[in-house]
Amino acid sequence: MFKNKKIVVVGGSSGIGYAVAQKALNLGAQVVIASRSKERLCSAAKKLGDVVQMEVVDASDEESVAAFFQRVGNFDHLAITIKPHLPAQQFLENEMNAVMAAFDTKFWGQYRLAKHGVKYIQKNGSITFTSGIASRRSYPGYSAVSAINAATEALAKAIAIELAPIRVNTVCPGFIETEPPTSGRAGHIKVLSPGLPLNRLGLANEIAEAYLYLFANAYTTGTVMVVDGGAIC
Ligand SMILES: NC(=O)c1ccc[n+]([C@@H]2O[C@H](COP(=O)([O-])OP(=O)(O)OC[C@H]3O[C@@H](n4cnc5c(N)ncnc54)[C@H](OP(=O)(O)O)[C@@H]3O)[C@@H](O)[C@H]2O)c1
Repeated sequence: MFKNKKIVVVGGSSGIGYAVAQKALNLGAQVVIASRSKERLCSAAKKLGDVVQMEVVDASDEESVAAFFQRVGNFDHLAITIKPHLPAQQFLENEMNAVMAAFDTKFWGQYRLAKHGVKYIQKNGSITFTSGIASRRSYPGYSAVSAINAATEALAKAIAIELAPIRVNTVCPGFIETEPPTSGRAGHIKVLSPGLPLNRLGLANEIAEAYLYLFANAYTTGTVMVVDGGAIC
């Protein structure tokens, strides 16, 4: 399906981005994975069979983003799945610096990547941002995450009308299993799963399918695809 298509996944060294890269490869695409750590990229590329191009980029640094797209050159689809450290304290307890740093990477990072990347995207190509279920349902400790995710969805809709015919969409994941569970937040998320209609957390693979759909469907733009196991029911 993606033969002769070049797909760039920023955040492709782990989690959802890695799963997007893996699926795109299986469907015949040429894949570029990018993130900050060369070591993590090498380890991901090895697991993917050493058939992807790797590029180091820091989405929070404008020069790094511009130079990254120059190295990558023309391509078809861009998926952005970067995840910074996300502040998880109550609103009154979150440090302003931590909230602003998270915004700078996840929201402004996606903004920068779209702004610099779009001139290299082929006609009929697309950009897919990543938000998260906190954009549409509130949880204690998620005020910063909610705001970042809602801003991401609004940006995608706004630029979809300006960048057409290049399509711009957002995938909004619910809570997914992380491998390995790394933080207190992972434990907290686990507690939520019995309350979900599907009674379990999602898998990165299940979220990744949404990006592949949005790359392929030529009549979808400005939309948010929610894949959340029914969390907002
Ligand atoms: N996991 C969930 O339950 C969940 C739920 C809702 C929404 N989401 C959203 O889904 C997206 C992916 O989440 P995930 O759990 O798959 O994340 P993840 O496994 O932690 O992967 C994040 C990726 O982003 C890269 N990255 C982080 N900062 C970067 C930067 N400044 N520049 C370039 N790359 C950077 C990381 O690599 P380096 O460290 O090498 O840079 C890594 O490849 C995020 O936007 C997250 O907020 C996740």
